[in-house]
Amino acid sequence: MNDSSNAKVKIAIFASGGGSNARKIMEHFKDSPVAQVGLVVSNKANAGVLGIAEAFGIPTQLIDRPGFYQTEDLLEVLKKYQIGFIALAGFLWLVPGYLVREFPKRILNIHPALLPKYGGKGMYGHHVHEAVKAAGETESGPTIHFVDEQYDEGDIVFQTRCSVHPEDTADEIARKVLALEHRYFPVILEKVIRDLGKGNLES
Ligand code: GRF
Repeated sequence: MNDSSNAKVKIAIFASGGGSNARKIMEHFKDSPVAQVGLVVSNKANAGVLGIAEAFGIPTQLIDRPGFYQTEDLLEVLKKYQIGFIALAGFLWLVPGYLVREFPKRILNIHPALLPKYGGKGMYGHHVHEAVKAAGETESGPTIHFVDEQYDEGDIVFQTRCSVHPEDTADEIARKVLALEHRYFPVILEKVIRDLGKGNLES
């Protein structure tokens, strides 16, 4: 328990986009005694997140569809980097069963709406914020949830809200929600990882 360096949980971030959440997570855990980002996994060779990982000195792993869905090769990579937790930060592919089973309650996703509304296949990025606007919602906000084998259906860990005004464009809603994501995803990730440690000590 006193040897915090050995006890550090290694996080893999799965991301395919610009990586602004991934950057916040890398910054948050840079000097943390609790956890560190040990790997970034992406399915896009030109994803902005890869450059960010490089700047932080974090190794990266590219994946493709056949490898991800028809083999379990990624498990070997995660083992090699001693990954104990996965954060999905802008990762659009459905997580296969072998990964969910290997990381029970150890995969968190962030979704840019108040689930269970505006979730599921095809509900990502601007589609979400446009749907929120079209429905005339008066509030939105990110949801952080555990990942199971369905899109956006795992147990919800955290939600927070911002107001949506009739004059807000979808871009404006996106901006407000993303600001909340940046503020809360790293701290909720840390809290879940800390709770996991407590659970392990008790069992
Ligand atoms: C975020 O809005 C997140 O909720 C969703 O994908 C987006 C990723 O943005 N899952 P970024 O790549 O972190 O900037």
